Amino acid sequence: MGVPWTGSSDGGAAKVRGKFITLEGVDGAGKSTHLDWIAERIEAAGKKVVVTREPGGTPLGEELRKLLLAQPMHLETETLLMFAARREHLEQVILPALAAGTWVLSDRFTDATFAYQGGGRGLDLARIEILENWVHKGLQPDLTLVFDLTVEEAKRRRQLATAAPDRFEQEDLDFFGRVRSVYQARAARYPQRMRLIEASRAIPEIRQSLEEIVASICQ
Ligand code: TYD
Repeated sequence: MGVPWTGSSDGGAAKVRGKFITLEGVDGAGKSTHLDWIAERIEAAGKKVVVTREPGGTPLGEELRKLLLAQPMHLETETLLMFAARREHLEQVILPALAAGTWVLSDRFTDATFAYQGGGRGLDLARIEILENWVHKGLQPDLTLVFDLTVEEAKRRRQLATAAPDRFEQEDLDFFGRVRSVYQARAARYPQRMRLIEASRAIPEIRQSLEEIVASICQ
């Protein structure tokens, strides 16, 4: 059986599929600072782009996000809700956009589940792979930018930016150390797709790196 999102059909005139770009990193690494700027670079290259986020991106997903960020729950419940929100997000936003030739820029995707529920909270990564294969077998981002920063510096930045930390932001440095390790390990394992961005640098320097990476994917 074919995977529904590996091709597109609109009655013969096949459209070029859009590209799927995701941003990742520990809370405080600065991905939100660069999100709109990256979207502008993609638009400047003549592509249509949808900016979205996880958990969230749909009305149901945003409701699930409120619960996930505030309500204590079993780790497996948390993981299943992340994927429930993701299923809606794929169905309503990501897949239709890509099929229509629109690019999708998402603030987090499944790498975050491996990093946070797997690394941070200790859920067996093989369990997450099962859900990944269930919900989006055959679909991976074309490019994942991982903003990488020491957990101490990320904490300092979070404290400057956030008055009311959510359930994840309240976790300790060890938690974020494990999250960061999983991101780094995945970036080493999937070098074609994932690029580590050294996020301790000043914003203009980071943008210079981003500019090159984004320009190459826009060609
Ligand atoms: P985040 O993306 O950091 O948004 P903001 O910048 O508004 O705080 O918040 C989402 C949180 O959800 C973040 O702490 C990571 C967490 N998360 C997971 O634990 N697993 C996941 O699969 C996803 C998508 C997010």
